[in-house]
Amino acid sequence: MRALVTGGARGLGRAVAERLVRDGGDVALLDIDEAVGGTAREVAALRPGSRVTAIRGDVGREDDVERGVGEAAAALGGIDLLVNNAGIGGSTRPLVDVSVEEVRRVIEVNLVGAILVARAVARVMIEQGTGGCIVNIGSIFGQRGEAGAAAYSASKGGVALLTHSLALELAPYGIRVNTIAPGNMATEMHFQDLRERAARSGRTFEEEVARVVQAIPLGRHGTGEDVAGAVAWLVSDDAAYVTGQTIGVNGGVVLT
Ligand SMILES: NC(=O)c1ccc[n+]([C@@H]2O[C@H](COP(=O)([O-])OP(=O)(O)OC[C@H]3O[C@@H](n4cnc5c(N)ncnc54)[C@H](O)[C@@H]3O)[C@@H](O)[C@H]2O)c1
Repeated sequence: MRALVTGGARGLGRAVAERLVRDGGDVALLDIDEAVGGTAREVAALRPGSRVTAIRGDVGREDDVERGVGEAAAALGGIDLLVNNAGIGGSTRPLVDVSVEEVRRVIEVNLVGAILVARAVARVMIEQGTGGCIVNIGSIFGQRGEAGAAAYSASKGGVALLTHSLALELAPYGIRVNTIAPGNMATEMHFQDLRERAARSGRTFEEEVARVVQAIPLGRHGTGEDVAGAVAWLVSDDAAYVTGQTIGVNGGVVLT
């Protein structure tokens, strides 16, 4: 399995890369953060003989994406799996208080970025002629709106329908496209969100964490391993007839 994971320097992307390498895969990590180099070395150490490549780039920039996907395909000898994971949260303020620059950046990274990377990788997969798997990381906020997350929710709703459209376009090539929609994962993005909400509400960070956990039917935050497990299933032959779907990884909170 030759996989490209965007936003793989930390958080959910890193956990997915670790799982793929443990399962015998080779991985290219594309991230805007220079920490991606160190992450790649640590992930590679999980399985002697594995190939793990670090690529710096901004998924919102077409030139970075074209170069990055080219480098990933060259380093791995092709791409069988794309995990379209890079994303930013944006602020937690009401839309009336958010600048157009921030709105544009959230859409540019989360939606345009996902489109650019999927387009570049789809071209590689079609050329290979051996099918493939694209997993777009959406969000519970792409399944239902959230106050204080208008631009982010719009971007992730876009990702969900990007999946539907690409599943139809790429099915003739044996390329399956699905969304994983996480909710309340224990990563820096989520905790930054809670720190902002705590600062505005007058509650402590710990109180915000407790409020979130109390609202989750399974009673805990999600982890990168939870998302990695869903990716491992989607890429397996057990999911060979699954395309165009959204898999929620949210402890049941989407139902509350
Ligand atoms: N944490 C959650 O609760 C949660 C819930 C739903 C969805 N998600 C989604 O999961 C994905 C991963 O989030 P996370 O929680 O691991 O966040 P994170 O902030 O820990 O990691 C995000 C990674 O993406 C990289 N990145 C950001 N902008 C980039 C860009 N322009 N180009 C390339 N790389 C870029 C960052 O450097 C970082 O390594 C995101 O798409 C996020 O929207 C997270």
